[in-house]
Amino acid sequence: MRTIRTVAELRAALAEPRRGGKTIGLVPTMGSLHDGHLALIRAARDAADHVVVSLFVNPAQFNDSADLAAYPRDEHRDAGLAHEAGADLLFAPSTDEIYPPGFTTQVRVAGPLTETLEGAHRGADHFHGVTTVVTKLLNMVGPDVALFGQKDAQQALVIQRLAADLDLPARIEVVPTVREPDGLALSSRNVRLDPQDRRRALALSAALRAAESELREHGTTDAEALSAAARAAMTPFDVEPEYLALVDPEDLRPVGSVDQDTLLAVAAHVGPVRLIDNTILTPNGGAER
Ligand code: PAF
Repeated sequence: MRTIRTVAELRAALAEPRRGGKTIGLVPTMGSLHDGHLALIRAARDAADHVVVSLFVNPAQFNDSADLAAYPRDEHRDAGLAHEAGADLLFAPSTDEIYPPGFTTQVRVAGPLTETLEGAHRGADHFHGVTTVVTKLLNMVGPDVALFGQKDAQQALVIQRLAADLDLPARIEVVPTVREPDGLALSSRNVRLDPQDRRRALALSAALRAAESELREHGTTDAEALSAAARAAMTPFDVEPEYLALVDPEDLRPVGSVDQDTLLAVAAHVGPVRLIDNTILTPNGGAER
């Protein structure tokens, strides 16, 4: 697996597979790879002939400079893992390569998709930073397919909207969340949890499981009752949700009851770390993960 730093080298490296009729898959990452990323890379291997993993900690999507500074970085380790999972090429550009002097363009998805949930708490600029860098990466790589994780459900939705609205040719695929055996959703931020906060972090998945079982076992579909069950499950962990919302999985508008597939999304601060998680509640099946 080659590591490439510039857009010119990237395009040159992809010219040959493209000429040979090979399809290209892109897995955009900010590094600190975990099994969730490796699942994306393996899914890309299945979906395309040639797999590019991008590694770029995108300053434009951080609303908190301390969060950006604390973001874990280990390119050597990431390169080894990406290679083992089946990547052909690691694109690890500098900040100047992505945002050269004079850079002023922003790509924005407007409205509730970027203004609610994460957008309401981190600021919509978070998503404007994501959509700007993802548009650039899609233009740089020109993939047939790009893969994103369901753990960042709102991000995946925003990117699908972006691709549809701008007629971007890449297919956007969403890959299920990977969890630790005890239920914690994998996240690059988990390494910053001390042992006590690691235990408390289970509050988020416990909330999701509580709503799922309330729906499945008691047939409760009322959003407020499901939300109350989810919040109650967080209390023993001494974790308060920053938000916990039942919303339409297509447009993120709040729902009053689970009459069709519903996204239950939760965010919470656990010690110094902000975590998110989600599940899809289905009226007859309880939940889909
Ligand atoms: O999900 C992430 O790691 C980032 O938001 C992404 C998609 C790589 C854009 O920087």
